[in-house]
Amino acid sequence: MNAPSFDTAHVTADTTSLSTVVPVGDLGLLHVNAFVVKSALPVLVDTGPAALREPFLAALGRTIDPADLRYVWMSHMDADHLGNLSAVLERAPQAKVITNFLGMAKMGLLGHDTSRVQLIGPGEELDLGDRRLVPLKPPYYDAPETTGFFDTATRVLFSADAFGALLPGGAAEAAAIDPETLREGMLKWAAIDAPWLSTADPRAFGGLLRNIERLDPSAIISGHLPVARGVTGRLAANLNEALSAGVFDVPDHDTFERLIGAQSALAA
Ligand SMILES: [Fe+2]
Ligand SMILES: [Fe+2]
Repeated sequence: MNAPSFDTAHVTADTTSLSTVVPVGDLGLLHVNAFVVKSALPVLVDTGPAALREPFLAALGRTIDPADLRYVWMSHMDADHLGNLSAVLERAPQAKVITNFLGMAKMGLLGHDTSRVQLIGPGEELDLGDRRLVPLKPPYYDAPETTGFFDTATRVLFSADAFGALLPGGAAEAAAIDPETLREGMLKWAAIDAPWLSTADPRAFGGLLRNIERLDPSAIISGHLPVARGVTGRLAANLNEALSAGVFDVPDHDTFERLIGAQSALAA
């Protein structure tokens, strides 16, 4: 691979993606995306992996003067989202970190300064002057602090890790990816990121997906998918299959039976 770089592209007139792709073993390439929302009070959404600090900061600098940032919205505290938080905060002295209580606790455990955290609690929204970011729990996630949002001005939905896909190559738009390639890539990623999906209640999960379809976002932006415009129904249908795809096994019934049987034998 060439030296990694982050490409920048407009999602809307005032929302920009900072995007790269990284290999995940021989399973495919994963988009790793952050976003800048140039609202009245500008926001950076996630900070990329530390291993890609220089190209990430370069792309951020091409998009906005970091000193203008007022918030850094942390979707969750995984290394591919948190990696450059300290470096960004050094360059963004006005910026507060938006997360919830668990996110702040994890930041502290990871040795990050939490003095600039602005907690966002249940039912609260982030007022950016010309819009609100309404926190939303994505339909699946790999860390319980995960918080996406709906932008009330652009109607863009940010889904954190959800709707990600392992793909054979980079793409500018999810709609341009061959539908079967996208479907397979989404199922692979969902099985890695949320192996518990195969144990989720299909009706409850289907309800979460239907709510997103009813919300009818202008675009879905994910940390791990090219911008998805006009394909919400297709993405939801693909994810619905993730419940039964079972690409990677969770502890199965036979394993439990074997363990319980061994314990019973010991107790006898
Ligand atoms: Fe994650
Ligand atoms: Fe992630």
